[in-house]
Amino acid sequence: MRIIIINGPNLNLLGKREPEVYGHTTFEEYFASLQAEFPSLELHYFQSNIEGEIIDKLHQTGFSFDGIILNAAAYTHTSVGIGDAVKAISTPTVEVHISNTFSRESFRHQSYISPNAKGIIIGFGLESYKLAINSFL
Ligand code: DQA
Repeated sequence: MRIIIINGPNLNLLGKREPEVYGHTTFEEYFASLQAEFPSLELHYFQSNIEGEIIDKLHQTGFSFDGIILNAAAYTHTSVGIGDAVKAISTPTVEVHISNTFSRESFRHQSYISPNAKGIIIGFGLESYKLAINSFL
């Protein structure tokens, strides 16, 4: 089974960025632990700070992979383009957030991804990604 995690803007700074919100672990460290935990899965990881690159990656993987785990980060709340891309592809996409976006500022309560997601996992820290993997098994 091929699953890709796609992370959006500023998530390359995990571990350094607002650790009280996002924790002290880098995504590379966490991704290595996921690969160790799910050795039978082909897990891929892509991160970009650029909206169009995220859309391109959704197009590249969205007709061949078995699952997409998407944390579009701030673009979640602004990007009609990424929302449309999730709608356009056939691979089921699970929307993930590290923090509980509903307990934060009101602009984080809106998501252009959710209407077209298979499901949504929000607020469990980095473990949100593991829960998303399990949702595909
Ligand atoms: C986030 C929540 C977003 O509101 C924020 O812009 C992020 C990260 C999360 O995983 O909690 O960058 O997607």
